Amino acid sequence: MNEKVFTFDDLTSRAILDSGYRQDAILAVIGNPVAHSASPAMHQPALDECAINGRYIKLEVPVGRVNEALQRLNALGFIGANITVPHKFAALDACHHVDDAAMQIGAVNTVKFIDGEVHGWNTDGPGFARAMQEEFAISLMGQRVMIIGAGGGAGQAIATQCARDGAERIVLVNRTLEKIESLAALLRKRFPLTKFHAMALSDIQLEGVARQCQLLINTSSVGLKSDDHSPVNEGCFSAHHLVYDTIYKPPLTDFLRLASKQQARVANGFSMLLHQGVLAFDIWFPGQAPLETMRAGLLSVS
Ligand code: ATR
Repeated sequence: MNEKVFTFDDLTSRAILDSGYRQDAILAVIGNPVAHSASPAMHQPALDECAINGRYIKLEVPVGRVNEALQRLNALGFIGANITVPHKFAALDACHHVDDAAMQIGAVNTVKFIDGEVHGWNTDGPGFARAMQEEFAISLMGQRVMIIGAGGGAGQAIATQCARDGAERIVLVNRTLEKIESLAALLRKRFPLTKFHAMALSDIQLEGVARQCQLLINTSSVGLKSDDHSPVNEGCFSAHHLVYDTIYKPPLTDFLRLASKQQARVANGFSMLLHQGVLAFDIWFPGQAPLETMRAGLLSVS
């Protein structure tokens, strides 16, 4: 596996990136920090399986330099890149063309260099939709969804995807209410057929509203530390719920544990991570993404 983390300053010559390696770097994940990224564990085995001669590397880029980093990768002959926290919003502005999902979500997580131009996609939202199919055998059409921690990037991507796919009702929940009121207003304007509500995490009506939903999703960062308590209490969960946590490490957060206790069906963010990666690989190499190889690669580091 390519464990070395390259930096922005390494993007000056092929020699710096490739000397000592049998294959040239052709893809990268751009983040800050990026050392923990599981993306190489998915994409390198996929490249190898498809007999595509190249390396997928980790690249740490300072805030404010994504545009330059993409220009340099383009000039160095890379095929594309994944973009992760905190650069997904800035990457949108660095693209010459973006797909509908990226435009509506307002963030880019995958780029491909085509004829010297930067094309951007967002596969987080569509990856989430595929994860719902795989985990719960549902489409998002007609669903009543509660998104907890909707103030962050993941919440925004998932809320937008649910609306794009025709959810009936979307309840945005956040510790800081002001942060989601503007998101709710924007989504209402864009998707008039879906009903949107914005609620504070501390709202005493949360349990009652949760009961009226079918799908509950944690997109907050609460649960990343193994001693974190669930952002909502046990009274929010019932046996009819499908409950998803975008966190996959640790695999069983307190949020999922409480939901399981109430007999709800639960799943963690492994599937979303996998499917956003599969969709990205399919953008770089249409029709070639080896799903099971990528799943095994990701499992090996989870
Ligand atoms: P991003 O995904 O953009 O990096 P983040 O700062 O990691 O964002 O936060 C993601 C979400 O987790 C936010 O909705 C945040 O709530 P606020 O908007 O109120 O900050 C939520 N979050 C983080 N820590 C939290 C906590 N201790 N309790 C409740 N929600 C929390």
